[in-house]
Amino acid sequence: MDLLKKRIEEEGKVIGNNILKVDNFLNHQIDVELFIEMGKEFKNRFAGEKVDKIITIEASGIAIAFATAQAFGNVPVVFAKKQEAGNLSGDVYSSNVFSFTKNKEYVVRVDKKYINKGERVLIIDDFLANGQAALGLMDIIDQAGALAVGAGIVIEKGFQDGKKLLLEKNLKVESLAIIKEFSDNKVIFGQ
Ligand code: G4P
Repeated sequence: MDLLKKRIEEEGKVIGNNILKVDNFLNHQIDVELFIEMGKEFKNRFAGEKVDKIITIEASGIAIAFATAQAFGNVPVVFAKKQEAGNLSGDVYSSNVFSFTKNKEYVVRVDKKYINKGERVLIIDDFLANGQAALGLMDIIDQAGALAVGAGIVIEKGFQDGKKLLLEKNLKVESLAIIKEFSDNKVIFGQ
């Protein structure tokens, strides 16, 4: 998606040799106009797919999931929680997720009442790196007897294993920008 790539080129900051900081429009401040366009783009990429619900993980996934849900006719957005919250009923689906970026494991949880058997669920997230977050969501969708119709990703780090792992699970993956590598603190896009 050219509009997104332009923003990454103009405003993204490469940290070390592995992290892209895009707080300006994605992870700290949200560019609403861009998000609405990204939502429409996900709708185009998954045209023809029946989507009953969108799932993401708090926090950064929520806004892009919301914009995408609007493009899909205001389907509900469910976000998996990373913190054990007092307001979750004990009746949850949960999955362990290991974050390589943060080098720690965490648990994602969704109250059982928010994913139903047979529902067609689209995964949306801001970054795809090692794919562990998306795999955790797939696990939760499986536990519910629902069907993962695909994963829509804003920025894929193509030099990490995430896409490969999701494709091995026969999940359709659509990324709006794919980073091939970082070179001299610049982003090189790939296919
Ligand atoms: P994975 O899910 O693909 O395995 O990735 P990983 O565990 O390595 O990523 C952990 C967190 O770091 C995720 O956010 C992910 O979105 C984010 N992340 C990974 N690579 C980058 C990057 O290059 N730039 C930025 N800005 N973020 C990256 P999170 O912990 O769930 O944070 P949040 O959603 O609460 O903001």
